Order: sequence, then structure tokens, then C-alpha cells
Amino acid sequence: MSSIFDKLLVKGKHVCPSWVCFTFDNPLRKIFHDPGKIVAPYIRPGAMVVDIGPGKGYFTIPMCQLVGGEGRVIAVDIQEQMLKSIQRRAAAAGVAESLTTHLSMPNDFGLAVQADFVLAFWMVHEVPESGQFFTNVKAIMKSEAIFLIAEPLFHVTEGRFNNTLRTAQEMGFKIVAHPKISFSYAAALVL
Ligand SMILES: C[S@@+](CC[C@H](N)C(=O)[O-])C[C@H]1O[C@@H](n2cnc3c(N)ncnc32)[C@H](O)[C@@H]1O
Repeated sequence: MSSIFDKLLVKGKHVCPSWVCFTFDNPLRKIFHDPGKIVAPYIRPGAMVVDIGPGKGYFTIPMCQLVGGEGRVIAVDIQEQMLKSIQRRAAAAGVAESLTTHLSMPNDFGLAVQADFVLAFWMVHEVPESGQFFTNVKAIMKSEAIFLIAEPLFHVTEGRFNNTLRTAQEMGFKIVAHPKISFSYAAALVL
């Protein structure tokens, strides 16, 4: 059964439209989604980071600041307009040199990198096939990398999140933590 969020905002679409992502992305969000608490513990200067489904770049820009000039954040999205708005924001924040944007296919990133940290925040419920998604994520992770996944609890049931984690485990991931993230189910995964 579709949620109120589906009915009022997304209207049954599987992929978050640009204007809905805009509503997530405002200064007030930092009160409950502080990048300094959610992603900073996993990111060192010089790191290679992949932000899958970055939307308007709420986490991408602070992650560019965290990796610094020697590191790189690759923002991977299937919607070009999201990537364009991240490029504008990175330029305004003075971190464009740490950013790469990459237009992806829904079932294939088409990306050949080895990341230290991968983020999939409030996006896994939008992918067409989660088994293929986790296989694709594995292919872009260093053996010691961390993959942080968070799903919105107003849109994804606990049962569905547990199924997603089961699929991840079937694809070779291990759950190492369940970080507390407001309005979210979350897990840190390793290979
Ligand atoms: C709800 S938004 C989340 C945005 C961001 N992570 C945040 O927390 O603000 C979901 C994003 O995932 C992207 N997306 C959906 N399916 C995708 C896929 N298969 N591969 C890459 N990005 C995808 C959408 O285009 C959208 O930008």
C-alpha cells in the first residue's frame, strides 16, 4: 500500500523528483541530519567517496569539504538536473575541485573506481533491482571500505528495510553497525 508521502509528494513515481529533493535540502535539515555526525566519522582527507543518489547534494558538498583538495567525491545520479545543481553548489562553496559528477543508468553506475566510503542516503528504495544494486556497489568499493545506507522511515517499512539488508548480505555484505540517524533506518556495511 502506498504511503501518504507517495500520495502527496511522489504520486507513485519511483524516483524522487527534483522539487521533492529540494524540500529535503534546506538549512533546517542540519538539526536532524548533521553531516558532521552522520558521514564525517567515515571520511579522511584525501579519501575517495561515492555519493549514490545525491539529490541536490545535501551530503555531497560537506563530503567534498571533508576529503579536501587531495580527495574526491563522485556524485552518481540518474537525473542530470540533480548533478547540474550539485556542480553549481560546489562552485559556490569553493569545493568544485574535489567533485566529479557522473550520470548513471538505473541498474548500472558505469563507474570504475575504488572507493573508501560509499553513501546511499534515502535512495535505495528507488532502485529497480536491489540485488543488482548491491553487486554494483561492491564493484566500486575497496576491500576495507564502508558503505552507509539510510532509508526514510516515513516511506520505507522496517520489514522492507530488513529485506534490503538481507539482500545486501546475500550479495556478500556484512552489517557492522546500525548508526542512529533521525527519521531513518540505517546500517554501515562492509565486504
Ligand atoms: C530522495 S533523493 C535523496 C537525495 C540525497 N541522498 C539526500 O539525502 O538528500 C533520491 C535520489 O536518488 C536518485 N536515484 C534514484 N534511483 C537511482 C539509481 N538507480 N541510481 C542512482 N541514483 C538514483 C534520484 O534521482 C534522487 O536524486
